Amino acid sequence: MDKIKTLKTSELPLNSSKVVNLGDKPIALFNYEGEYYALDDICSHAEASLSEGDVYDCKVECPLHGAEFDLKTGDAVTLPATKPVMKYKVNVEDDYIFLEMTQDA
Ligand code: FES
Repeated sequence: MDKIKTLKTSELPLNSSKVVNLGDKPIALFNYEGEYYALDDICSHAEASLSEGDVYDCKVECPLHGAEFDLKTGDAVTLPATKPVMKYKVNVEDDYIFLEMTQDA
């Protein structure tokens, strides 16, 4: 399990989102109601950036066709997406947001 340091918490204010690139993999970080979440940024339906979507009820709405993904699980909860996006475990230490990446992530 690798721990990867990303943004300072002050760089991701309450109810905002941002993309961080891990190598060539874009990951969307969310601060929703003071909790941090991380999902693959690219929608499982097509090439849209989930970090640009609206967030409500702990879900992000894809800005392209409106599929919603659960921030806690990455599950696609509404069409047209049917496949989940990868979700990552997030920890905060010393005011930095860390992602926990498993070997296959
Ligand atoms: S690209 Fe996200 S729902 Fe189509």
